[in-house]
Amino acid sequence: MQTNFDEVIKRRDTYSIKWDGIKTLLPEAHWNDETIPMMVADMDFACAPAIQAAMHRVADHQIYGYTWPTDPRYFDSIVDWYHRRYDTELKKEWIAYSNGSVSAINCAMNTFTNAGDGIIIMRPVYGHFNGMIDGETNHKIVATNLINDNGYYTVDWKDFEAKCAVPTNRAFILCSPANPIGRVWKLEELTRMAEICRKHHVLLIADEIHSDIVRKGYTHIPILKAVEDHSNIVLVIGTNKSFNVAGLLCSNVVIPDKNLREIFQAQFGMCMPTPFTVAAAIAAYDESEEWLNELNEYIDGNIDFALAYIKEHLPKVTVQRPEGTYMLWLDFRGYGLTDKEVHKKIYEDANVMLQDGVVHDVEHGECFQRMCISLSRGELKKALERIAQQFK
Ligand SMILES: Cc1ncc(COP(=O)(O)O)c(C=O)c1O
Repeated sequence: MQTNFDEVIKRRDTYSIKWDGIKTLLPEAHWNDETIPMMVADMDFACAPAIQAAMHRVADHQIYGYTWPTDPRYFDSIVDWYHRRYDTELKKEWIAYSNGSVSAINCAMNTFTNAGDGIIIMRPVYGHFNGMIDGETNHKIVATNLINDNGYYTVDWKDFEAKCAVPTNRAFILCSPANPIGRVWKLEELTRMAEICRKHHVLLIADEIHSDIVRKGYTHIPILKAVEDHSNIVLVIGTNKSFNVAGLLCSNVVIPDKNLREIFQAQFGMCMPTPFTVAAAIAAYDESEEWLNELNEYIDGNIDFALAYIKEHLPKVTVQRPEGTYMLWLDFRGYGLTDKEVHKKIYEDANVMLQDGVVHDVEHGECFQRMCISLSRGELKKALERIAQQFK
């Protein structure tokens, strides 16, 4: 492995949300100089060398004016990446830059549905979807619960279809691969979801922002590959997560259907990247594939380590090996404690900041915790040791 992912790089005092922002964003949170933050889904690893070099080139130019992705490599690199990595053919004209996946999803909801309409999600799911639906866009959350079989989650098809069949439920936000449960959806699952949506005229908004982070033996299938009819699909992708450039707002929205695309674009307007964004995205897709492969290998190692450690030292925690993402979805119910007690032991006594399960599943998330293992093995070990100590 060429990259040393074991290196610990100080991130405090760098405007990082995970390392600095929590203090002001969550003033009630337990937080001090020794806290190990594993809450926010970004990585404590240095970016790929090609991305670093691209950032230096842009910085050295000394002018950072209004920017547009005029370099044809911006779109070509995305098309090439999907061809190479996913055997999926995108067309350049389907793609538009978006300053984050959340803003593209918000815009899709606002453009194609009315305030008050139901937006379907499959819980547990990325908690911010809740805030977007009933806060930012004034829609109604319609949750279908995934079936939890000892930590492995599958779709409740009857319930999903029943929710899609309600005429006021107008869109479904799919998280693929799924944060926080780590599922990489199978072809037949994706096809079935898409077919149900189409049958009931439900817009399918696929958030595939975690697509490049998959575990050994699994392959992410883009929704556009899973079905031929793309007439009701809005896809959100990007280098944000996979290449650890979320602070550069590197996302894209892909809409194959011309009519849908034109309506969306009229609403979305002129969404401008920074010069750093464009350069980072091209350097990621064109020059950093080997780095990404190594990253996935390192994350596999972190997961092996964490699962073995948990089995031995936190034996009452139920956890499945994730198929994708760098997250573990930990079920502490075996300890017979309340959600508050579990929280206190981890956040205050162990001084490790995870994310409470209720953020991702308000109904069934109590005593669950999401742990982002996107940090060096040494720091991961330290965090697990501290937590295990409290559950002896
Ligand atoms: C599933 C999912 N979608 C969207 C986001 C946010 O992405 P962005 O920073 O591109 O808005 C996250 C961040 O954790 C996520 O996990």
